[in-house]
Order: sequence, then C-alpha cells, then structure tokens
Amino acid sequence: MPGTVQIAPSILAADFGHLGAEVQAAEAGGADLIHVDVMDGHFVPNISLGPVVVEGIRPVTKLELDVHLMIESPWEYLEAFAEAGADSITVHVEACPDPADTLGRIHALGKRAGIVMSPPTPVESVEPFLEQVERVLVMSVNPGFGGQSFMPEVLTKTDTLSRWRRERGLTYDIEIDGGIKAANSRQVVERGAETLVAGSAIFGGDDYGERIRAMRAEAEAGLADRSRD
Ligand code: DX5
Ligand code: ZN
Repeated sequence: MPGTVQIAPSILAADFGHLGAEVQAAEAGGADLIHVDVMDGHFVPNISLGPVVVEGIRPVTKLELDVHLMIESPWEYLEAFAEAGADSITVHVEACPDPADTLGRIHALGKRAGIVMSPPTPVESVEPFLEQVERVLVMSVNPGFGGQSFMPEVLTKTDTLSRWRRERGLTYDIEIDGGIKAANSRQVVERGAETLVAGSAIFGGDDYGERIRAMRAEAEAGLADRSRD
C-alpha cells in the first residue's frame, strides 16, 4: 500500500527443516507478510519449493503469503498455489506471452495479482498492466538465488513506477526483492518502494525481530525523506 512500509521475510533463506517455526518466528518478530520464492529449474537455474510447501505453512500464520513465481508457464500452476493458500501471486513478465490474461486468471481465483521484472528487463515492459495489478515487484538481483548483492541501478525503475502511480492515480504496491538489508532500506523507500523483501538479512541472524525492526526504522526514515521532496 503506498505510504506504508511493509517488511516481507523471504523463506528461501529460512531453515527448511523447521519451516513452520521459522515462519512463526518471523511473524512474532513483526513481519508484515511472508514472501515465498518458487523456482522451477527452468526459468531460473535453481529449484526451491511448490504448492505443498505453501499448504504446509498456511495454517501456521495469519500473514499474507506473497508467492513469487519464478517459473515457466506460470498460468498452469495458479490454481494449485491459490488452493494451497497463497494470498497474492506475482508472475514474471518475461515468462508470460499474455500477461493480461495471466493476471486476469489470478483475479478470477480471488487472489491479488502482481507483475515482476528481472534486472535486464525495462520497466516499460510492465506499463500496459499497471491498472490491472495490486503489486509491481522490481527485482534488484537476477532471480534464482538468495544472498546476492543489491543492484542499485534498478532504482530508476522504482522512481518511474512511483511517478506513474502518482500521475495516473493508481494504487499498486511497489515491492523490491534482492539484496535488501537495513543499510539500503532507507534509500529504496526514498526511491519509491514500500514492500521490502529480505531473505538473508532476516533469516541470516539470530533475532529476526531485531533485524525486522532495524529495517523498518530505516525504511520509515525513507518514507519521511519522500514526503520532504
Ligand atoms: C531471488 C528471490 C529473493 C531472495 C532474496 O531470486 O526472489 O526473494 O530470496 O534473498 P536475499 O534477501 O538474500 O537477497
Ligand atoms: Zn522473491
């Protein structure tokens, strides 16, 4: 939601041997939503998890399950993720020959729809779909792996998405994913993002609440910078 910071721990960096407890610890630590990275070994060179894992964590948290599909032919799996308990489903514009149709199918399943682009893909690629989505996700690393370094050059995309949202009276959430940590949270929010995905920066520490609070404090400073512009 524009104007409100949200911290979204990515379970890709959690301990999969104790995933339910990890999700509960993130919620207890103040997470606003749980980011779920789905990788198929084709769209990205890594395999992570599928609908059964979403189904497994659904009963342990009240938080939004924010499912990020890094898979080919995502439209073939929307129903499975919706039934498993996803609240929002975000698809890569690069993976969809007809994004409008895929986003329409997500809505038909009663879920929030998001569109995402990888770093090499221009922001104009998602422009035709802005009126149809609740979320635009900007990848700040090449998708496939956690723990990579943030790519600051993608912030020109959050600038543009933020300007388009304001000029056109739209309300989509701007999410950023990859290499986000307390040290860059202020800057990414100042540049237009408000939902901050973080895997290693949260699950890589012992005290998730402390990590989340540190990110939120920086992000809220970024919101204040924005309103001074
Ligand atoms: C990357 C995933 C990210 C990843 C973020 O392909 O989409 O959500 O888990 O991990 P960190 O925060 O460690 O960069
Ligand atoms: Zn992700």
